[in-house]
Amino acid sequence: MKQENNAKGRGSERMEAIISLTKRRGFVYQGSEIYGGLAGTWDYGPYGVALRNNIKRLWWKRFVDDREDMYGVDAAILMNQNVWKASGHVAGFSDPLVECKKCNRRYRVDTMITEPDEYKDLLKFVEEKYIPDRLSGVDSKHMEAKSLIEDGQREKKYLDVAKKVLEEAMMDIQSAIEIRKKVELAKNYQGPITQTYLDTHEVCKNCGSKVWGEPRQFNMMFKTHVGAMEDETSISYLRPETAQGMFVNFKNVLDSFHPTLPFGLAQIGKAFRNEIAPRDFIFRLRELEQMEIEYFVKPSEWRVSFEALQKEQVVFLEQDLGLPSSKIHQIDIAPEDRAHYSKHSVDTEFDFPFGQKELLGIAYRTDFDLKNHSEASKVDLSFFDEQTKERYIPHCVEPTFGVDRLTLAVLSDAYTEDELGGEKRIYLKFNPKVAPVKVAVFPLLKNKPQLVEKARAVYAELKKRVQGVEFDDNGNIGKRYRRQDEIGTPFCVTVDFDTVEKDGTVTLRNRDTGAQERLSIEEVIARITAALA
Ligand code: GAP
Repeated sequence: MKQENNAKGRGSERMEAIISLTKRRGFVYQGSEIYGGLAGTWDYGPYGVALRNNIKRLWWKRFVDDREDMYGVDAAILMNQNVWKASGHVAGFSDPLVECKKCNRRYRVDTMITEPDEYKDLLKFVEEKYIPDRLSGVDSKHMEAKSLIEDGQREKKYLDVAKKVLEEAMMDIQSAIEIRKKVELAKNYQGPITQTYLDTHEVCKNCGSKVWGEPRQFNMMFKTHVGAMEDETSISYLRPETAQGMFVNFKNVLDSFHPTLPFGLAQIGKAFRNEIAPRDFIFRLRELEQMEIEYFVKPSEWRVSFEALQKEQVVFLEQDLGLPSSKIHQIDIAPEDRAHYSKHSVDTEFDFPFGQKELLGIAYRTDFDLKNHSEASKVDLSFFDEQTKERYIPHCVEPTFGVDRLTLAVLSDAYTEDELGGEKRIYLKFNPKVAPVKVAVFPLLKNKPQLVEKARAVYAELKKRVQGVEFDDNGNIGKRYRRQDEIGTPFCVTVDFDTVEKDGTVTLRNRDTGAQERLSIEEVIARITAALA
């Protein structure tokens, strides 16, 4: 227990250090900061934008540009409200919420239950033991009543007893049905079982009270109205997932490009969720960005595509983003924990400083979405298979990625404290492919025009050949190295007197080791290009 607390303590210290660095160096700022912020929103500064663009570019390259079976789309965020009715989000995209009656602080019930195993054990006990025990006498009561009725045909007094025995059996059945209903509600963290559990086990973290309101489901979609009228017909929602924009464009792409199965639609874009408890920096947001693929397959062949795309997700994390395999964990999601549309889901979790948490996922959505949209819109969303001459609604495998969580995974994994040349330093050990700045060019001295002029020429040359080059002549060279280390620049090039007076070579400094080498510009470019390959 003690160790766990320490680990938690270290985790939150590390998170604080990361939040502080990312603000200081222009990666992430609090949303609406000058007005005191807006919970669940963060803004990305210049280096944050560059880092995220690199992540998105690498994703697009791997999953769209390098393949022949993927089609990019960019659908509107606002969609016809019927999309969200057909997709099941109006009815079911909710989280269980409870409010402290004393201070009105709201919590997500499933995340606040501190001993989830105990809660699950309670439900299991009621379902598997309490209800069957209650019902175990019902059969024998039935039998007893039956023989009493037979006796009652001879002697009337037995009929009254039979009636009583039957009533008792009925009451047992009725109460078992009632309890089962309560257990069903409790599985969604609602109803009297959850209420009793909260009242007896949970304390408000804000005010210490133990008096809870009624747990209920809270729909997480942001509702708005389109146009000047604010009535039922003008309702729209900010999309909570980018996926639906692809399902509603399935037929358009089919008609324009005539792809054969399997093929996928891919999209990067914002999504919005009115999370009850946004937290952990950019981990749980109310405005987030997703990268999703809806991969349409022949129903009998879904597993092959599922497994191939699942593997590709890990390759993307390890090879493109440089995340270590030791921090990546794949978790099969139990049926009761899957989203309403999924028949099989695997989450990829990552070791964040605050624990192992979901980074991304893959789900087998079957024909759930296309079928529902086809029925609701009355537009035929089936596919004609030229090979088998069959017409059917394709099934769908959906790999989904959160850009903000990937950004946090990359940042938290890169954050490093060490000692270099006898001095403590902080640096971001980014894989060069994601680093916002790949190479920074300095003149050794700022006040020597011939050094500045040559450094500018080297900068211009590098800029033509590499994306993410920065010129820096602020402060002394030590300060410049510290700044570049903190933003995770893998290479620094310094132009000194030897460069201008001798052979044109420069020094190339390696961020991780601090080692410096003298190289020609062509050799520098070759080094950087190799690191980015
Ligand atoms: N279309 C499927 C879908 O949206 P999801 O598991 O709800 O599935 C996909 O979300 C990914 O989006 C998650 O794995 C996570 O990376 C990211 N995500 C979800 N909710 C988020 C939130 N509130 N803040 C940041 N990222 C979130």
